[in-house]
Amino acid sequence: FGSTATTVQRDPSFSILSSDDIDYFVEILGEKNVFQDEDKLSTANMDWMRKYKGSSKLLLQPRCTEEVSQILKYCNSRRLAVVPQGGNTGLVGGSVPVFDEVIVNIGCMNNIISFDKVSGILVCEAGCILENLDSFLINQGFLMPLDLGAKGSCQIGGNVSTNAGGLRFVRYGSLHGNVLGIEAVLADGSVIDMLGTLRKDNTGYDLKHLFIGSEGSLGIVTKVSILTPLKLSSINLAFLACNDYLSCQKLLLEARRKLGEILSAFEFLDHESMGMVLTHLEGIRNPLPSSMYNFYVLIETTGSDESYDKEKLEAFLLRSMEGGLISDGVVAQDINQASSFWRIREGITEALMKAGAVYKYDLSLPVEKMYNLVEEMRLRLGLSAKVLGYGHLGDANLHLNVSTLQYDDSILAQIEPFVYEWTSKHRGSISAEHGLGLMKANEIYYTKSPETVRLMVSIKKLLDPNGILNPYKVLPHSPLP
Ligand code: FAD
Ligand code: MLT
Ligand code: ZN
Repeated sequence: FGSTATTVQRDPSFSILSSDDIDYFVEILGEKNVFQDEDKLSTANMDWMRKYKGSSKLLLQPRCTEEVSQILKYCNSRRLAVVPQGGNTGLVGGSVPVFDEVIVNIGCMNNIISFDKVSGILVCEAGCILENLDSFLINQGFLMPLDLGAKGSCQIGGNVSTNAGGLRFVRYGSLHGNVLGIEAVLADGSVIDMLGTLRKDNTGYDLKHLFIGSEGSLGIVTKVSILTPLKLSSINLAFLACNDYLSCQKLLLEARRKLGEILSAFEFLDHESMGMVLTHLEGIRNPLPSSMYNFYVLIETTGSDESYDKEKLEAFLLRSMEGGLISDGVVAQDINQASSFWRIREGITEALMKAGAVYKYDLSLPVEKMYNLVEEMRLRLGLSAKVLGYGHLGDANLHLNVSTLQYDDSILAQIEPFVYEWTSKHRGSISAEHGLGLMKANEIYYTKSPETVRLMVSIKKLLDPNGILNPYKVLPHSPLP
């Protein structure tokens, strides 16, 4: 370990788990859903990046909302701290205990409740895995409005709780728009039914939004209703090379202007990110091997008319090539080639893990300025680290990653607080889509004003007065300024 050194202390107001507590959980959940064994706990105590490790002695797997309610009611009355956990693919240390919090994983709650083929509204339990939902919908002629590299493990409850962005955001927008309803269980066990399926509903405060992106700090999301788009018949994917960052930006503008409504993804990776994937992942080939370019861009179009869409894309590519924005490029000829292109972009996170230590930043920045930060970071770190820039260019979301063989506090000191100060100076966000978790709870002020944070703290106190839900995460541990 050795990521962001955390100086957080265990909150002494929390109780220590007793054998009576275990007996109670066995009584309500049955032995099969109460886990104390080393194997299961060591996996659940450690995050996907293997950077954060807790020491929980108990993992609970409820099978229905009523069981979640009973668990939380009991934990609240006993002052037992709880960490809600989904697929445990989060990248900011939010999904694992910091100390001995009880882990509550709702992965067994994975039923689809209903799907309306006319409206495209899906209602499901929050433990459904994203990829399974997408496969279900594809069979119905629809798809999930979000897609991310962790789709095989992450759960929709985790996606909603982190307000995950991902690869389709540029087309379908945020979960704040797509999630129509939520059922959540509060810290005291009360079940809040906000599981509406209406597009329009202005009856009072729209409280479901509090749970979207609150990273398990306000309640456990148990059910979700979500608006899903139709799966259109014609999908094209181009893998392109650009020589400089300015060309990537201009290409984005051109894509918006010329591809218009059929644009469904606009992603980028730099030369270092491509090198990382080629070095550390097996079976990957650079689709544009003749030369290593400085930047690669993936542009996907999704529409309903194959010949019209192809014509539109081809004309756009030709113009961009002639205008010098693109240096080289290839359009996927079939689904296999398209997934091999996506594998390059989606594989960067995994390749970085294989390379050793990784310092990961997820920033919203003005597109024009975004890559300056990557270059400045390279200058700061010199040969001591690899600095990668990739991300969701169409959403102005940069993933700045620093890769070294081992964690080293002197490297961390070169990166932080510089990266946060730089982002704040440009009025960006220090967490575009991954959340704050444990990693950035104390850094919230770089993006949010003290008054805003104070209001968040009041909301947290109202909904979870004993602070049992995901303590030490999201909100700052240090006193408010
Ligand atoms: P977890 O990691 O288990 O939990 C994440 C947070 O949500 C924690 O704070 C946890 O307490 C809380 N939580 C989980 N379930 C619930 C629930 N039911 N109720 C209340 N709180 C809950 N993220 C993006 O935004 N875009 C990407 O493109 C993207 N790509 C990724 C690619 C890879 C390879 C990996 C490993 C991660 C990626 N992520 C991405 C990050 C991560 O996958 C997302 O944050 C995802 O939404 C987390 O879902 P999860 O089920 O794994 O949640
Ligand atoms: C991505 O876009 O690849 C994900 O957010 C994961 C990452 O930032 O590495
Ligand atoms: Zn991302």
